[in-house]
Amino acid sequence: MPSFKNIFAAAAAIAAVNAAPAPPTPLIAPQDVPVNQYTNDAANGAPFLNNIAQQNGKLWFGTAADIPGPEQQDLEYMTILNDTRIFGAITPANYMKWQYTEPERNNFSYTGGDVVIDIAEDHGKYVRCHNLCWDNQNPAWLLDLVASGVSNKTMISILQNHITNLIEHWGGRCYSWDVVNEALNGTGGWDQANPFYQVIGPAFFPIAFEAAEKAVKKTKADIKLYYNDYGIESGGARAQGAVNAIAALKAANIQVDGVGFESHFEVGGTPSTAALVQQMNTFIALDVDIVMTELDIRFVNASAANAGGYAQQATDYYSAVSACMQVDRCIAMTVWDFDDKYSYVLTHLLLF
Ligand code: XIL
Repeated sequence: MPSFKNIFAAAAAIAAVNAAPAPPTPLIAPQDVPVNQYTNDAANGAPFLNNIAQQNGKLWFGTAADIPGPEQQDLEYMTILNDTRIFGAITPANYMKWQYTEPERNNFSYTGGDVVIDIAEDHGKYVRCHNLCWDNQNPAWLLDLVASGVSNKTMISILQNHITNLIEHWGGRCYSWDVVNEALNGTGGWDQANPFYQVIGPAFFPIAFEAAEKAVKKTKADIKLYYNDYGIESGGARAQGAVNAIAALKAANIQVDGVGFESHFEVGGTPSTAALVQQMNTFIALDVDIVMTELDIRFVNASAANAGGYAQQATDYYSAVSACMQVDRCIAMTVWDFDDKYSYVLTHLLLF
C-alpha cells in the first residue's frame, strides 16, 4: 500500500487564491494518496505543488528529507523528491544537526549535508539549512562538558565556533539557516533543558544570532537567518515569548530575517486560517518573513483515521496553507517529509 501523505489538499488552497469562489476542501480523502497525485498533473487535473506555489508568489513549496538514507534506493520516493515541479526546496531532516556536523569537538563533518545540497542544486531547489543551536541531537562530548561544569566563556566560544564553521562551509548554498531552534518552554520562558541556556543563560540567544550574522557577512552571500519553533503559530504564551525574543534581537540591531512556523498540527486540532494569519502578522510587524517550515498534520488517535478523518485532514492542510497564501510575507511552505515510510511522524499514528 502506498504511504504518501495527504498533502495534496494544499494545492487546492494555493489555487484558491486566484479563484472565486474557493473550491471545496478535500481533493482526496480516503486512505493514502496515490503516487500519481504527485506525479501526473494532467491525468488528475491537479497542479504540481511547487509550480502552483511559485506561480502564486511564493518562493517554494518544499519538503524535508532524511537523506542520506534508504530513501536513496527508493525510486518512487526519489522521483518525487527530485521533481522540482512538486518540491522547490529541501530541508535536511537531520544531517546538519550538531551530532552529525561536529561529532567531536572542533572536528566537523559535512558529508550528510552535502548530499542534500547536491541533490537540491542538481534540481534547482532552495535549501533551508537546519539547524545551528538546539537542545536536541547534540553530541555526547558537548553534553559531557556541560555536565562537568564547563565555563561560560568556553561554552560561548564552542557555540560561536560551530555556527561560524557551518555557515562559512556551505555559504550561499543555504537559502537560510535556522540559527536557534525551539528555545522556549510552554509558558514562553527559555527551555531549561537547553544546554546552551544552562551554561550561558538567556544571552545564548543573541550570541548565536550575532555569530551567525558575522559569519554571513564573511561569506558575502545573502543568507537569511531564522528562529524556528513549534507552538508559536496561533497565539499563546509560547508565541509571545518568541515575539519578545525576536523584538529583542531587532532592538539590539542583530540580524534576524524570519520566523519558522513549524506547524506540526493535529487532525481536527489545526489552528484556524484566521488565527494563523493573525499570528503571522504579529511577527511580521517586527519586520521578519515567515516560512511554514515543518508542516505535518497527524492523527492523534489511530482510530480516527477513517474516511471522515482523512477529509478533516485534507481540510486542515487546506486551512493551514491558506493562511500562508493570504500573507505576502509568508514566503514559502515546507512539509516535514511526504512519505510515512520515512517520516518522523506518521500520518496515521502518533509517535510521540
Ligand atoms: C526530527 C527528525 O525528523 C527525526 O528524524 C529526528 O529523530 C528528530 O528530529 N522539530 C524540528 C526537527 O525542528 O528538527 C525535528 O526533526 C522535528 C521537530
